[in-house]
Amino acid sequence: MKTDRLDAPRVALGVSGGIAAYKACELLRRFTESGHQVTVVPTAAALHFVGEATWAALSGRPAAVETWENVHEVPHVRIGQQADLVVVAPATADLLAKAAHGLADDLLTNTLLTARCPVVFAPAMHTEMWEHPATQENVATLRRRGAVVLEPAVGRLTGVDTGKGRLPDPGAIFEACRRVLARGVREPDLTGKHVVISAGGTREPLDPVRYLGNHSSGKQGYALAATAAARGARVTLLSANATLPDPAGVDVVHVSTALELREAALKACADADAVVMAAAVADFRPAEYATGKIKKKDGVDPAPVALVRNPDILAELSAHRARPGQLVVGFAAETDEVLANGRAKLARKGCDLLVVNEVGGGKAFGQDVNAAVLLGADGTETEIPEGPKETLAETVWDAVVARLG
Ligand code: CTP
Repeated sequence: MKTDRLDAPRVALGVSGGIAAYKACELLRRFTESGHQVTVVPTAAALHFVGEATWAALSGRPAAVETWENVHEVPHVRIGQQADLVVVAPATADLLAKAAHGLADDLLTNTLLTARCPVVFAPAMHTEMWEHPATQENVATLRRRGAVVLEPAVGRLTGVDTGKGRLPDPGAIFEACRRVLARGVREPDLTGKHVVISAGGTREPLDPVRYLGNHSSGKQGYALAATAAARGARVTLLSANATLPDPAGVDVVHVSTALELREAALKACADADAVVMAAAVADFRPAEYATGKIKKKDGVDPAPVALVRNPDILAELSAHRARPGQLVVGFAAETDEVLANGRAKLARKGCDLLVVNEVGGGKAFGQDVNAAVLLGADGTETEIPEGPKETLAETVWDAVVARLG
C-alpha cells in the first residue's frame, strides 16, 4: 500500500463497461506516477473487462466497487465529496445517460452526483451510439451543467469498424485532466462554444516530391486546441502538416496546402464562435504543378519557379464573419519592427485580436516556449512574457472569453 502525500491531488477514476477499459490502466499509471492519489471506481460491467486486482495493484489502494461495502465510511458520498477531479474513462453511452439523468444506482453514479469538483468524461462507443440523438442530448446536458465531455477520437473501433467513437489516447486524456485540475474550477468558461484553430504550416507542392513550406511545428496551435478543450469548448483543429499527437477531445482535420486550409476553415467556421489562425500559411504557391518530378538537365540552368498569391484566409474570415459576433484571432510572425508591423497587420487583416511574436534566430518555431504581445482591435495591448506555449494559449482564451461575453 502506498503512503500518499497529504497534498496529492485526489482523483476518482470512474471506469464504465466498454472494451476501452483496458486503456484506463495506462491513464491510471500516468496519474499515480505523477503524484496523484487515485481511487478507481469501476462499474460492474467494467469489471468484466478489467478485474479488481488490476485496479488495486495499479492505484495502490482497493478499487471502490461496492456501495454496500464499508458502509460506515459512506463511500457513495465520500469519494465524490473528497475528489479534486472525477474522470470517467471510458464513459459508455449508458453511463452518460445515467449521469445526464441523475441516476444513482451504483457507486460511480453516486460519486458523480456528490462531486463538486471538475468532472471530465472521455466517451468511447460505436459511432452509431455516439451519434444517436439520445447520446448527443445527454452530452449537451452534461456540458451545459459544467462537465468537460471530450469528443471521442476517430479510428478503429471494436471489431472491423472504424469511425468516431474511440477512446482518445490515454496520454492525451491525462493531459486534458491535468489542465482541468490546474484550472480547478467547476465551470469551464468555453462550454457551449465551438472554436476553430489552425495549426502547423502549409506546403505548396511543386512536383510530386517537392514543396514550398515553412518551419512551423504546430505546437502553439495544438496548445490552443488542448487548452480550449479543457475549458469545455468543442474544438475543430485544422492541422497543416503537423506531426504532433491529436489532443484529447478535439476534432482534427488534416490539410496540406493553403487552398485546402481555406476550404476547411470556411466549412468549420460556419457555426464557430471563435477562430484562431495560428497556422503559418504560405503567401505564395507555385503557379504550376509538375505532375512528374522536375529533372535536372546537364548544361541547362533550372527554370525560375513562378509563384502566384494564395488567398489571405485570415483577412477573408475577418471580412465575412460566418455568424454575428464571431471572434477572429490572428498570429503575426515578425522578424523586425515587431510591434509596429503587428499593429499594421491587425488593421490590415481586420481581425479582433492579433498575437504578435518574434520569429527567427531560434525563436518561437519548434520551441516549447513563446513570448508575445496580444493586440486588440479595441486598442488593448497585453504583454505575454516568455513561458510555455500553453500559458500563451490560456491568455488568448482569457481574451476570447472576455470578448464573447
Ligand atoms: N494568414 C492567412 N492566409 C495567408 C497568410 C497568412 O490566413 N495567406 C494568417 C496566418 O494564419 C496568421 C496571419 O495571417 O494568423 C499572419 O500571418 P503572417 O505570415 O505573419 O502574415 P502575412 O499575411 O504573411 O503578412 P506579411 O507577409 O506582411 O508578413
